[in-house]
Amino acid sequence: MSGFFFALNNQPIGIFDSGIGGLSIWKCIRELLPNESTIYIADSANAPYGDKSPEEIVYLSVKSTEKLIGLGAKIIVVACNTATTNAIRHLRDSYPLPFVGIEPATKPAAIQTKTGKIGILATKGTLASELFLNTSKQYRGSVEIIETVGAGLVQIVESGDFNKAKSLLRKYLEPMVEAGVDNIVLGCTHYPFLKGVIQEIIPDKIKLIDSGNAVAKRTEHLLLEHSNLSEALYPTHQIFTSGDPVLLKKITQNLFDEKIGIHRF
Ligand code: DGL
Repeated sequence: MSGFFFALNNQPIGIFDSGIGGLSIWKCIRELLPNESTIYIADSANAPYGDKSPEEIVYLSVKSTEKLIGLGAKIIVVACNTATTNAIRHLRDSYPLPFVGIEPATKPAAIQTKTGKIGILATKGTLASELFLNTSKQYRGSVEIIETVGAGLVQIVESGDFNKAKSLLRKYLEPMVEAGVDNIVLGCTHYPFLKGVIQEIIPDKIKLIDSGNAVAKRTEHLLLEHSNLSEALYPTHQIFTSGDPVLLKKITQNLFDEKIGIHRF
């Protein structure tokens, strides 16, 4: 594997998601690794992945992976819980470069809870996946896990009008609050964009947990392990979307206030 990494240092980190959600991960990676160039794929034309079959999710994940490899990615971050839980095993078995995945942060929530009750908000595809079921099984004996499918939330985030999510979020989160959870896991990379709206609904004492920083740290760890961190002084950032580049540009400019190249996928 080390041969593969030789002289790849300034090649970009490839990141993909079913849409703009993974930009929450992209942001954490950029903050932790400011010298790294990135290429991000937002497969917005096919969002949401959460309602698709595992076979379709694998097929779409392969397409994004091959595009990123073609563009020279040295490592791939699957910035989508749904794609990770359904497709990462296939990707790791099929391609020689390292993959970083993201799963709902069940473990940290289960360790931190004082009430013994945690909530997990994620897509149908994530909550039904074998990987998620296996992870959550380890904690079910010691904590009560309230799982809720965030149906409709990905589409709202993709529209850029986050306030529209308020009534759905009330419906999904109020039962968790009433049940006494003290940690809520945002198990979809689109949901951190809704944090502001969520915080208007839940009491301050409830902690929201997402995996963005953990994924950035894992990416750094793998690059360090392979002596493959970039030293570029002027890293570049490109975003490819299968959806509407104008809308994506509007949303990303609002969120990140910086110039990035946006292209059609
Ligand atoms: N950002 C994806 C995730 O983390 C959303 C999946 C979807 O498109 O339904 O699961």
